[in-house]
Amino acid sequence: MTERKRILTGDRPTGRLHLGHYVGTLRNRARLQEEYDTVLIIADLHMLTTKPSKEDIDKIGENARGMVLDYIASGIDPNKSTIYLQSAIPEVFELNTLFGNLVSLNRLLRLPSIKDMARDANIPEDSVPFGLFGYPVLQAADILLPRAHLVPVGKDNEAHVEITREIARRFNNLYGEVFPVPDVLLGEVPTLVGTDGKGKMSKSAGNAIMLSDDEKTVAKKIRSMYTDAKRVTADVPGTVEGNPVFDYHDAFNDDRATVEDLKTRYRAGKVGDAEVKDELRQAMERFMAPIRERLRAAEEDTGKIDEIILEGTERMRELARETMREVKRATGLGGAMKRMRRAAERRAKKRSKSAGE
Ligand code: TRP
Repeated sequence: MTERKRILTGDRPTGRLHLGHYVGTLRNRARLQEEYDTVLIIADLHMLTTKPSKEDIDKIGENARGMVLDYIASGIDPNKSTIYLQSAIPEVFELNTLFGNLVSLNRLLRLPSIKDMARDANIPEDSVPFGLFGYPVLQAADILLPRAHLVPVGKDNEAHVEITREIARRFNNLYGEVFPVPDVLLGEVPTLVGTDGKGKMSKSAGNAIMLSDDEKTVAKKIRSMYTDAKRVTADVPGTVEGNPVFDYHDAFNDDRATVEDLKTRYRAGKVGDAEVKDELRQAMERFMAPIRERLRAAEEDTGKIDEIILEGTERMRELARETMREVKRATGLGGAMKRMRRAAERRAKKRSKSAGE
C-alpha cells in the first residue's frame, strides 16, 4: 500500500455540532476519508482556554460522545477515521512547549480570532489567559503531531493553520525536515450565517440549527428566521443578497430551479416570506434526512462510541510517540539525559564488578 496523506482536524467538546460545522468542515472530512488517513481530535485542552472550570471538565465525556455521534451522522466512518481525545496524549503538551518558542508573541497578539473567542466567552481584554493566546500554538501541535498534510476547517480557523505552517517551516529550518507544511481546506460555505442573520452560526449565540434537531425544531427555527426587515408585506420588492433565508437556500436546497424562481419573485415583490421559508423547510428536510438516519442508527449502540474514542486514542498515541522520537532526534533534546543515563549504567556495572571481585 502506498503511504496515504493525512488529515488532522477536529472540534472542542463544548456541545453538539450544527449545520455551520457541517458545511464548513464535516462534509469535507466525510468526503476525503477514503483518500486520506483521517485523524479527528476532540480538543478538550483547547476548550480549557475559555472554559477551565471543574464543571466544564466534568462534561468532557458526555460532550465527546455527542460529538462523535454528530461525526457519524455527518457520514464520518469510525472504521476509516481515527477519533481521539487530546488530553490523553501527553506528547501534545511536550510539542506545544517546544512550539511556543517558534512564533512571536506579537504574531499571536495580532490575531482577531483570539479576541473574538475572548469576547464570546465574556473575558475582558485585560484578562485574556496566556493559554488563550497560545491557542494557535497548541493547534499547531495537534496538526503536526500526526504530521498531517491537510486541515479541513471553517474560515474562523484559517489563520491558525497559517500559524501552523509558519511553525512547521521554522522547525524544519532550525532542526531539519520533520514536518510537512500542511494546507488548509475551507468548506464550500466557509462561514454559515446564523438564523438571526447577525453573525456566524454558533450554539452559544442561540442562532444554530443543530444536526441533532428534530423536524419540528428545525421547522420552528426556519419560521422565525431573520429575513429582509424592510419587507413588511409580500408585495414589497426584497433583497436576496445577504438575506440568511436565501443564503440557506443556496447552501442546502438541491432544487436549483425553485431557488432561482423564488429569488426572481422575491426581488419583484411577488412572493411572501412564508412561502420562501416553507420551501426552505422542505429542502432542509431532504438535506437532513440521511443525517438523521445515521444519527438514529449510531444512538442504538452508545457503548460503541466509547470504544471508538478509546481505540482512536491508542492509535494516536502510537503516531505521537513516533513523531516525538523524530523531534528528539532532530533537535537533540533528550540527548544529554540519555548520555548521563548510559554513563551512570556504565559506572554501576563497574561498581558491581569490583564489588564482586
Ligand atoms: N480550533 C478548532 C475549533 O474551532 C478545534 C481544533 C483544535 C482544531 N485543534 C485543531 C481544528 C486542529 C483543526 C486542527 O474548535
